[in-house]
Amino acid sequence: MTTPVSPYARILFAGPDLDHGSFAELFRKRLAALRGTAALADIVDTTAGYSGLWQCVAEAERPLLVIDLEPQSSSAHLDWLRSELGRLAGPEQLFVASAIGQSEGLPVEAACALIARPELHLPCAGVAELPERHAWSQIPPHHYRVLLCNGPRCTRRGALPLWKSLRTQLKAAGKLECEGGVHLSRTQCQFPCDQGPTLSVYPPGAWYRIRSEADVCKLVQQQFVEGREAPELLMSRD
Ligand code: FES
Repeated sequence: MTTPVSPYARILFAGPDLDHGSFAELFRKRLAALRGTAALADIVDTTAGYSGLWQCVAEAERPLLVIDLEPQSSSAHLDWLRSELGRLAGPEQLFVASAIGQSEGLPVEAACALIARPELHLPCAGVAELPERHAWSQIPPHHYRVLLCNGPRCTRRGALPLWKSLRTQLKAAGKLECEGGVHLSRTQCQFPCDQGPTLSVYPPGAWYRIRSEADVCKLVQQQFVEGREAPELLMSRD
């Protein structure tokens, strides 16, 4: 068992899917092997939200390091996490490090390796506040919200290259993220997997099966340029 030397009184591992399921099982087994079974008490599952983390941090000894295991982590997510933690008592002794994007293999290995890398620990005190109003404070003028499934079965049916193609073709048609245009989001499973790759469009609440570049072309032209459904691409409702 390897336990990196640490200046912290407590280290928390926070992220979704750390309580139940295959990922949690593997994470817990590896964490116990690397840091001992006592470290299992340092796992905070954020699947249902962050209130458990705030409470745990509020009660924990300082100095404290939170290892962020959010798979969708980004610079904006870390800014938010640090600023929220910075509101708690003793923010000058609170630090955050993100395990995502580190190269040490599984997230648990990356997380534990981070402990010994203080240059990657970000302080939670003095994080700049968001301005009251800014460029992204308005509801955008997009007309359509398009949800492309990147769940496991749609991904196996080729959904990932379709994302790129859809963005490219929407942009070429002058319909990407503009007034009257399309806001495009990737999602997890939307359920009609066997008919996928699944793409749903609001309005009108249409469910499409998009399987090729040609389907993307047809969808962009008919649904977003001409403003009518593309019936040949609609999923079966039977
Ligand atoms: S994986 Fe895409 S609908 Fe289920």
